[in-house]
Amino acid sequence: MLGLKVRKEEGEKTRKFLLENEVLAKGYKIKNLGEYLVFPIVKKIGGEIVEIEFERLKEKEKFEGTFDLIGDIAIVEDSDTSILRRKNVKSVYKKETKVEGIYRTRKYVYLAGEKNTETIHKEYGCRYMLDIEKVYFNPRLATERHRIAEKVNNGERVLDMFAGVGPFSILIAKKRDVEVHSIDINPDAFYYLKKNIEINKVKNVFPYLGDCRDIVKKLSDFDRIIMNLPKNSLEFLDTALNKTKKGGIIHLYSIRPEKEIKLTPEYTQQVKSYSPRTFVWRYDIRP
Ligand SMILES: C[S@@+](CC[C@H](N)C(=O)[O-])C[C@H]1O[C@@H](n2cnc3c(N)ncnc32)[C@H](O)[C@@H]1O
Repeated sequence: MLGLKVRKEEGEKTRKFLLENEVLAKGYKIKNLGEYLVFPIVKKIGGEIVEIEFERLKEKEKFEGTFDLIGDIAIVEDSDTSILRRKNVKSVYKKETKVEGIYRTRKYVYLAGEKNTETIHKEYGCRYMLDIEKVYFNPRLATERHRIAEKVNNGERVLDMFAGVGPFSILIAKKRDVEVHSIDINPDAFYYLKKNIEINKVKNVFPYLGDCRDIVKKLSDFDRIIMNLPKNSLEFLDTALNKTKKGGIIHLYSIRPEKEIKLTPEYTQQVKSYSPRTFVWRYDIRP
């Protein structure tokens, strides 16, 4: 059979792409080759194509819809709850609202399994405890967080201005000998951020609860600033510019067009879709 070989961190994105484009061969198990995954496909597409045998899925493991997995909670697009048969899924929820408000949270409808919105999500060797209804968390940003962590150099002072439960901060702090200062305005995100610092045994993340505009006044300048608030990060750009060391860099996530930034980014990367016609972009800015 035909298979598409991708690096593991590209797995979730690839699965969704293949499903959406009807290229995924249904009823077969995805092959796990350590650092790589091989997806069964029905026709050749771009990327590394291999000829390989795939195991058939058992009847109870079949689920052909789109879903996100946060820890052991499956978030499905329609109301099909058959995914609950999978060993790693304990609860099934469906999105009820869009991501809303300052805290960037959303409501979910409970569909099946355990009625519990708190879970522990594993990503790149880190564990994040979180409540899907109380805080923002998007597993589709895993590759992006890894990309940023790879750019960080030892000795840097890093500011995570919109840290949430800490997935950028903790990964960076684990991988590098750096100081990460992490701010969030949502008390629940702050609670889980502190928990996750403990769970992941990182000593170099410093959490703060409050509005980043107030908190940064008490902090000295940074080599790298992460601004992961795509809807309105531009409102905070001046705060970040005032806190960047000479030669430092800002990673600004935004859904707005590049021309509104008024500074020439050193690099621009499309990160994920925001709505059918809008994307979240990352602008790397060296002030
Ligand atoms: C899109 S989420 C990103 C969370 C995290 N970076 C992640 O990848 O999961 C944005 C976060 O910014 C926080 N936030 C919004 N306005 C803020 C402000 N003025 N100061 C600090 N945090 C803020 C929200 O509570 C939310 O947790």
